[in-house]
Amino acid sequence: MPVLRDLYNVFIPTTTGAWTESLQTLRERRAWFRSQQRFGYPILVAEVAGTVVGFTAYGSFRGSGKWPGYRHTVEHTIHVHENYWRRGFGRSLLEALIERAHANGVHVMVAAVDGANTESIAFHERLGFTTVARMPEVGRKFDRWLELVLMQRII
Ligand SMILES: CC(C)(COP(=O)(O)OP(=O)(O)OC[C@H]1O[C@@H](n2cnc3c(N)ncnc32)[C@H](O)[C@@H]1OP(=O)(O)O)[C@@H](O)C(=O)NCCC(=O)NCCS
Repeated sequence: MPVLRDLYNVFIPTTTGAWTESLQTLRERRAWFRSQQRFGYPILVAEVAGTVVGFTAYGSFRGSGKWPGYRHTVEHTIHVHENYWRRGFGRSLLEALIERAHANGVHVMVAAVDGANTESIAFHERLGFTTVARMPEVGRKFDRWLELVLMQRII
């Protein structure tokens, strides 16, 4: 959990990839782990010589507890350490997550991407995701408006 927290936290101070200015605490990351376990949602990691260099996971889309109609749709997250970008780790992780999702009866996977994160948009396009919505100015960080790009893949 400390490694996953760090992989997530690393870009928070400098990029709009995650729409928060607060670094995640270990306590918050552990609470997330317990909630993933409670709902049976997977967390997959990529390791190099015993060191975790990336992870991916999915959770409910728009709170499927409150809105049961969304129960076959999930939203995922993926983070790979910068030193390991463009070496196939992201693809391996997401393909494995998609397989797991399929086995668990998921019908649609959604990526909610910051409009400035062209790397993630290109990555998801390569993995078969299609941009289905662009929502201008729905977010705010660093004193500017942010665009949300919703991408989905029917699996
Ligand atoms: C997005 C991210 C997960 C990609 O991981 P990665 O390990 O570099 O991806 P891979 O090397 O497996 O690349 C998979 C495919 O995406 C493409 N791709 C990856 N990064 C790309 C980029 N910056 N520009 C264009 N294409 C890219 C690759 O060319 C590859 O295509 P191919 O397999 O068809 O040849 C990684 O850059 C990352 O962790 N970024 C920071 C966190 C983040 O933005 N997460 C997503 C939040 S929505």
